[in-house]
Amino acid sequence: MAKLRVGLLFGGRSVEHEVSIASATAILRALDPARYDVTLVAVDHEGRWHAGSPALPPEAAVRGDEVMLPAIPGVQALLPTPKSVGDRTLPIDVFFPIIHGTGGEDGSLQGLLELAGAAYVGAGVLGSAVQMDKDVTKRLLAAAGLPVVPGVVVRAGDAERNGGAGIVRELGLPLFVKPADLGSSVGITKVKRAEDLAPAVAHALRFTRKVLVEKAVDAREIEVAVLGGARPEASVPGEIVPSREWYDYAAKYVDDGTELLVPAPLPEAIAAEARRLALEAFRVVEGEGLARVDFFLDRTTQRLFVNEVNSLPGFTEVSMFPRLWMATGLTYPALIDRLIELALERARARAALETSYSTK
Ligand SMILES: Nc1ncnc2c1ncn2[C@@H]1O[C@H](COP(=O)(O)OP(=O)(O)O)[C@@H](O)[C@H]1O
Ligand SMILES: [Mg+2]
Repeated sequence: MAKLRVGLLFGGRSVEHEVSIASATAILRALDPARYDVTLVAVDHEGRWHAGSPALPPEAAVRGDEVMLPAIPGVQALLPTPKSVGDRTLPIDVFFPIIHGTGGEDGSLQGLLELAGAAYVGAGVLGSAVQMDKDVTKRLLAAAGLPVVPGVVVRAGDAERNGGAGIVRELGLPLFVKPADLGSSVGITKVKRAEDLAPAVAHALRFTRKVLVEKAVDAREIEVAVLGGARPEASVPGEIVPSREWYDYAAKYVDDGTELLVPAPLPEAIAAEARRLALEAFRVVEGEGLARVDFFLDRTTQRLFVNEVNSLPGFTEVSMFPRLWMATGLTYPALIDRLIELALERARARAALETSYSTK
């Protein structure tokens, strides 16, 4: 049987560029060479696409076939091209995008892959966009009756709210202030005094135009991995024990002290509830393929809140998502195989849809 041609799409322009490279390295190692022919597609810090080895200069990968979207470097190599330039297209059956953050997991890249008619792993345009936006996610989860932490949105130019007295009255202290559509704890501040709120909002507004201010929960941080197409499955829960007061950028990437407990030491009933909520949240935010659903477990009330859903969680062998699946009985290579299968299943289901309509 012919090997499946997989395009491992990694790198990207966000602060998670290096994490993405680490994820891609692990995935590459797990892809069985007897079954898959892998092409590396590396997106560099400037957004240029390099095919082949990530060490190749861009000119080697992109030979200037200006076919349909010439303004975006590299895209033309993806698009179905006329026969005359056929040798310049990337021969790929399915893409495995593992680009975290803005541009990679917010739906833009997924839109590009849709336009290119490519099969790809993970959430589609809508699911990616929804999951990237903590405010939209929260509204959808709340509308579905799922437990979320109370919060308010402050938009750039929302002058009357920026002072924050109303917010403190409504939500109390401490608060968490975060950009609505970033990750990696970039731009997030824990606010303990009312006078620190406005500067924290201003800080977050340096990175985005929409900021979420939330009541701080004194919580354990519980995460569940979800895998799935038509019938999603949830892993056992894990727990993050940050090396610092909260799980900030340094606790994620700089300090060594953060611990990942897999499985999380939880009473049976809470673990079961987390798994149930993870599956519901996955559906509500249009999850496809994979997602990591992150919870806060209130230390006082033992209540679970859904914090966020990540459509492209970290994917190194020591990352939470694969470790949760290993603890649930799926090896790392089996997980990769399953994700590729799910991508192909979705592509087949879409290809079977009718694209013209007549009332005859
Ligand atoms: N409402 C909150 N209560 C307590 N801790 C919070 C709250 N919001 C965020 N945090 C802390 O900040 C971290 C990062 O926030 P999160 O919303 O997960 O953003 P990111 O997408 O950057 O991971 C969380 O893992 C947690 O440690
Ligand atoms: Mg988070």
